Amino acid sequence: MADHVRITDVSPRDGLQNEPLRADGSPIPTTDKAKLIQSLLTTGVDEIEITSFVSPKWIPQLGDADELCKLLHNTKPNGMSFSALVPNERGMASLLQANEQAGTDLIDKVSVFTAASETFSKKNTNAAIAETLQRFEPVFAQAKEQKLAIRAYVSCVIECPFEGIILPEAVADVSRKLLDMGADEIDLGDTIGAGCTETTAAMLAAVTNHIPPSKLVLHLHDTFGRASECVRAALAAGVRSFDGSAAGLGGCPYASTESTRAPGNIATETLAFVIKQAGYDTRIDNEALTKAATIAQEITA
Ligand code: HMG
Ligand code: MG
Repeated sequence: MADHVRITDVSPRDGLQNEPLRADGSPIPTTDKAKLIQSLLTTGVDEIEITSFVSPKWIPQLGDADELCKLLHNTKPNGMSFSALVPNERGMASLLQANEQAGTDLIDKVSVFTAASETFSKKNTNAAIAETLQRFEPVFAQAKEQKLAIRAYVSCVIECPFEGIILPEAVADVSRKLLDMGADEIDLGDTIGAGCTETTAAMLAAVTNHIPPSKLVLHLHDTFGRASECVRAALAAGVRSFDGSAAGLGGCPYASTESTRAPGNIATETLAFVIKQAGYDTRIDNEALTKAATIAQEITA
């Protein structure tokens, strides 16, 4: 039987965070976000990143995380994982409150995020890389206490929109620190979709000097249509977990520059196809995924 490759759909989080507010200043209705998540539940993905507990001043589109979680009570099937982004202790308190209100671990994985680029880290979280790691200390401690898994994102693993090329050793360095702190998995983000086969392989070679590929996730944005070749390079390097976003929505608003809006994630549809074509199993139901991608497009139209 073919090896299973894990897919996390991040469309409710990465997919929606970059969507502009409507003309009247309102975000996408919370019920629409819940509808997208409900549709993703039928697709066979292993995990859904459902929202962010970040400052609504920084990400106005996801200021309804508490309300969204209430709509998701009793919806998570056995074996499915729900993760959510947390930047600091304040976000962790909100996540734990959402779980308390659900009466269960509605969110079973905490996703913290930092970067391999100092400039991006400052722009995205108003903190240097070392400061972000300090902020994570109480978050990790509480996650461990509550037996929640920890995903740690490292952004700009290939290039930074402000600093340009990022050295693979810089990615390895911050990844190793996060693992030493207790992260269960390191999610390597090609934030602006700059990667190709060679640069992805070089970055992964540096990281896997310190971290086994079984603890890595690859999070690709698809600016130049090269995300698929990066998936193949990562599969060859032993990575068995990837993020995608239904309909290819997504982007970090703080990776946008004056001339370029941050690019969308690799579409989960494309990701599933590439993984299957490479001979691995994903449990994806293509018809259900097409329906979810249509909903993702409808709610952002
Ligand atoms: P700050 O302004 O330095 O924080 O932001 P602060 O501590 O000074 O607080 C400012 C205000 O925010 C205060 O409110 C706090 O209470 C509030 P005020 O007193 O002014 O009314 N606040 C919060 N509110 C709700 N939830 C919280 C929270 N924390 C503070 N958790 C901060 C620092 C980290 C909060 C901010 O920079 C932030 O929220 N950044 C998030 C940016 C973000 O979400 N970016 C997108 C996700 S990352 C990404 O997309 C990349 C990824 O996909 C991988 C890849 O592609 O590379 C993961
Ligand atoms: Mg991203």
